[in-house]
Amino acid sequence: MLKLPPLRLGVNVDHVATLRNARGGERPDPLRAAQVAIEAGADGITAHLREDRRHIRDDDMARLKAGISKPLNFEMAATADMLRISLATKPHAVCLVPERREELTTEGGLDVIGQHNALKPFIAQLNDAGIRVSLFIAADPRQIEMAAELRAPVIEIHTGAWCDAVVDGDAAKAEAEWQRIVKGAALARSAGLEVHAGHGLDYQTAETIAGLPEIAELNIGYFMLGEALFVGLGETVRAMRAAMDRGRQAVSRA
Ligand code: PXP
Repeated sequence: MLKLPPLRLGVNVDHVATLRNARGGERPDPLRAAQVAIEAGADGITAHLREDRRHIRDDDMARLKAGISKPLNFEMAATADMLRISLATKPHAVCLVPERREELTTEGGLDVIGQHNALKPFIAQLNDAGIRVSLFIAADPRQIEMAAELRAPVIEIHTGAWCDAVVDGDAAKAEAEWQRIVKGAALARSAGLEVHAGHGLDYQTAETIAGLPEIAELNIGYFMLGEALFVGLGETVRAMRAAMDRGRQAVSRA
């Protein structure tokens, strides 16, 4: 029987801060959400400090780093300001994402080919500081090869287009996007990269992607926080964990 490596669940707490900021006060607190998620089985916490600080703020990052017992994954754009803040925060990992002010969410992957020259010293500084660098990219073979060349130890595959197609019921698009992810994950592993995935995942898509043996971590936020409104965050984390375990076990048995 094939024994698959464990699959970690990273819970993204950005939108707890979105809700808090709607009234400008201190509640709901993203740190409390992170602690509840960890208590319910999350393996790590992700937060994105955007340049416009629309949800997570600088002090949230510092409080998350100090107040959680599991690894912190600091999502950010590759800017000098963010490099300074992340080096001072010393998170377990930094996930580099593209950022446009006008976007609603992180719409595409990072263009690591186009930004090669700027990214190379940026990644080297984070590597030197002992921070694990992850590059959020599309499952494009050229981008994956360049990520390996840039000496980032991890990539996170952008699952947004696949998840959107699944939700829209566009079977042909969903299948094409899924095949890209399957091939991209295999290529990345063979290039020695650790492979994560995220964006737009729900119980169904998380269960499916859990069946890919190359994937070591899923980072999930928006769907889970929406579910949490109805059943609570702890229950949502447990249900997501169960969906991921079902996906992993189905392949282990095959
Ligand atoms: N991974 C990365 C790199 C992201 O930018 C995001 C969105 O902030 C996620 C995962 C989580 O996506 P979602 O909130 O759609 O689950």
